[in-house]
Formats: sequence, C-alpha cells, structure tokens
Amino acid sequence: MNQNPQSLLPLGDFKPADQWQTHINSIFYGMLGPAIHDHFQTYVSLDHRLAHTLAEEYYQQVKDQSVSLSTRFIQEWGVGNGNLAACFLSRLKELDTEQKIYPCIHYVLCDYSEEILKGVRANPRLGDHAGRFSTVRVDASRLDCFKPQSIDKIISNEIWDDLSTKVLLKHENTLYEEYLQPLLDPALLNIEFESFIKMFGEKDLPALQTLGPFLAAIQWEKSYQRVDIADWPYAKTIQVQMDLCAEEIPIPINTGAFTTLERARGLLHPDSQGYTAFDYGMHSLIELNQEGRPYFNLYGGQYTFMVNFDLLARVGKAIGFSQVEKEYQHLYVSRFMNEKVASVVEIMQNHPEVQRMAPWDRDLLMLQTLHAVNSTYKSPYKNKMKYPPQEGTPKKQRKLMAKLVDSLSSRGVPDTVAYVSESEIVSAFKPLRKLGYREKDLLRAFQSPPPAIAFTALNFR
Ligand SMILES: C[S@@+](CC[C@H](N)C(=O)[O-])C[C@H]1O[C@@H](n2cnc3c(N)ncnc32)[C@H](O)[C@@H]1O
Repeated sequence: MNQNPQSLLPLGDFKPADQWQTHINSIFYGMLGPAIHDHFQTYVSLDHRLAHTLAEEYYQQVKDQSVSLSTRFIQEWGVGNGNLAACFLSRLKELDTEQKIYPCIHYVLCDYSEEILKGVRANPRLGDHAGRFSTVRVDASRLDCFKPQSIDKIISNEIWDDLSTKVLLKHENTLYEEYLQPLLDPALLNIEFESFIKMFGEKDLPALQTLGPFLAAIQWEKSYQRVDIADWPYAKTIQVQMDLCAEEIPIPINTGAFTTLERARGLLHPDSQGYTAFDYGMHSLIELNQEGRPYFNLYGGQYTFMVNFDLLARVGKAIGFSQVEKEYQHLYVSRFMNEKVASVVEIMQNHPEVQRMAPWDRDLLMLQTLHAVNSTYKSPYKNKMKYPPQEGTPKKQRKLMAKLVDSLSSRGVPDTVAYVSESEIVSAFKPLRKLGYREKDLLRAFQSPPPAIAFTALNFR
C-alpha cells in the first residue's frame, strides 16, 4: 500500500519492538480467527505431511514404552485452524492397529484467541476425533495453569515468530535495541482518529471489528537506543551469542520463545517425548551473521520476527533440557518418508521462465503445476483448494484460473506449500515437461542447499 508519508500519524510512542509486535498480533489473531490463512499459509494449515511425520515419530517413540500412562496428554500451542491436530490424530489412529496408544491420547489445543478456537471446534477433520481432544484458551506466556510434569508431548508450529521478540544490534561493541512506532493515515478510517487511537491502544476488538480493514495499512517507523541487557532473561546466554555476532546486523532475541521453553520444561514428565517446535528463521550463527538477511515479516498486518534457532538451543540447555536437537524441517519430513521432499512452490521457483512472468501468469503456472503433479499424487484427505485471483489479474487470466481451480482434484496436492516427494515429481515428469520444466530444474528443488531463512525443527527433551 503506497501512502504519502506526510499523511501518516503516530498511533502511539516509540516502544521496544516486542511491545508493539505483541500488541498488533493480539489484535490480528483476535479479529481474524481462521481468516488468518487468507494472509499466510503454513506447512500444516492444509497439508498433512508434517503432521503425519510427527505422528509417526511419536508412535515409534511410545509403542514399546513400558511406562504405563492411563492418559497421554499431548499439547499443541498456537493452533491455527486445527489441521495439524486433526492429521496427527488420524495418522496415529491408523498406525495404532492394536489400539494401545490412540485410545489413551488426549490432545489439548491451546491458543489465546477465542476466534481461532471457535474455528478449531468447527473443523470437520477434528470432528472425527471427538472425545480425544479439547481446546483451552491460554496465552503462551501463562501456560503454568496446567499440572506440572503431566504432559507427554508438546508441539508448536510457527508460534515463536509471533511471540515477544526484541532486536539487538551491535555497533562498535555496544548493544542497541530496536524501537518501533506504528503510523496510520487517518483518511483510511471512517471514525475520528482520537477514538481510533483509544480503541487501538485498549485492543477493543468488538469496536475494531466494526471498522474497515486497517491492519495492513499500518506503517512502522524504527529507531535504535543504547541498551544494558543485564535484566533481560538469559542475559548471559544472549551476551555469549552477541559476542559471536557480526556488527550492524539486527539479531532477533525471541524472549517469548524462552518462556515457552521454561513452561515446557515444567510441564513435560520425566519420560516424556519432549517439545518439538517448528518455525522459520536463522538455523545457525552462519545465517545469523549473513549481511542483509531479513529479520521480520508483515502479513496482512501481523508482525512476525524470524527465529534465532542458535540462541533458542543455547537457552534450552541453560533451562536444563539434556537433549536439544536441531534439524531442517524438510530433512525431518524426508527422514520419515525415506525420500527427499520439497514444497510445490519451491518446485515452481525452478521453472526457467518464472522470474520473467507477470504475477497472474505465475498463478496460472502454479495451478497447471498442481494439475500436472495431481496426475500421480493422491492425498489421504479430501480437500477443495481455494485460489482467489490477486488484485489486478486481467479478465482472461481470471477466467482461466477459475476453470483450473474448479477442476482441481479433491484428492490432489492440498496446498501450494504442501510437501511433494522426489518420486512423485519424477512420475509427473511428462505433464510437467509440457509446462516448460526441464528435468534438471525439477530435481534442483530437491538438491538446493537450505536458504538463509529456513524452516527448522527444534526438539527439547
Ligand atoms: C502463525 S499462526 C500458526 C497457526 C498454526 N500453528 C499453523 O502453523 O498453521 C500462530 C498461532 O499462534 C497463536 N498465538 C499467537 N500468539 C499467541 C500467544 N501469545 N499465546 C497463545 N497463542 C498465540 C495464534 O492465535 C495462531 O493460532
């Protein structure tokens, strides 16, 4: 959205980045509920493969365990539309042919947004598991309301990037903290600016919901202030990492994620299967020190920070976890599928013409790619993919897109970020070649090194 910077007015003072980030995110999730996925997709919001991998791993871990638990509590934190829980439970039920594990499971979906939980309760895939799950409205920073040492497994996908994150920058060996200030053009509102500031400051969701869309129009001003981190949580661990970081590169410090690790440590029982969290960010110090890499993202108004996985692994050890394992998410899924995987969007990015295409032609190529892959791919779940045309799509392309969307197989690839395996792509070479892909382009998607900002799994036990 292009706006004249002179017409922008502040919605409040400059504050440390984490304060405005959590403020805006609670408004975003509180207002949108399941409609969040109109703004971003995740590896679990429609696809099943990451959830199935988790279920397979869990089943392998517990099937021969001698520990007898009348109920195995699994918690998921930050649950979106509930698809991860549904696919996890379905796969576990399928694997558990002797019915020793699934009947003992109670899966607790935890989220701080009532709108989100309403959507979860209406998810028909979860309906198949009635009695095996419940929902709890709770903030991820206040998970101490559950009984200590009562949980067998904790899962989260893409919640850390939403939680409190501070940003540090080293300049001439001195630390500076990033501050943010939100700004908005009052002309975009149909109420008095002062009334809006009050509603926004108080997070008055019912009142904000009566306004037109404004979240995506907020602009963010930045400044840096010298900071002493002595009273920050895990200050010593942060300092050790900052000493290894290059100067002038913004380093996210995911303090909200620190809290989830502390809570997980207290909630997991001694023989538990641990806490597995997936997110995207800098896998190691190498990526952290890469000049110019991004460190935050805005999706429809939501403010996310990339995850500093190296720091979280260090904090996990400081908290007392004895095992901390870090693995690229794609490799984690590949390990259980016994072959390499990539997302459909990564396949398409290797098309020789894609960089030169207009955005709507790229959408058409994506839909044609899905059709080609669907010639061999069969999903265990029924699904009708939505693929609305983006703003500015010409009439002709709109018509073509509608036709292609309409004829997509209900057992086809469920999402543009769904995982497909190398053998599924090899089997679809013929129709893919007709779209201009060369075999070497298609295989490159499975061989490329991970990007600077990558999806990663961290497991703490
Ligand atoms: C990016 S979405 C991811 C949803 C889902 N895990 C997925 O991958 O599709 C983040 C989720 O975390 C929830 N969330 C964000 N901040 C939270 C907090 N402080 N406490 C509890 N839930 C939170 C949001 O409501 C939303 O459901």
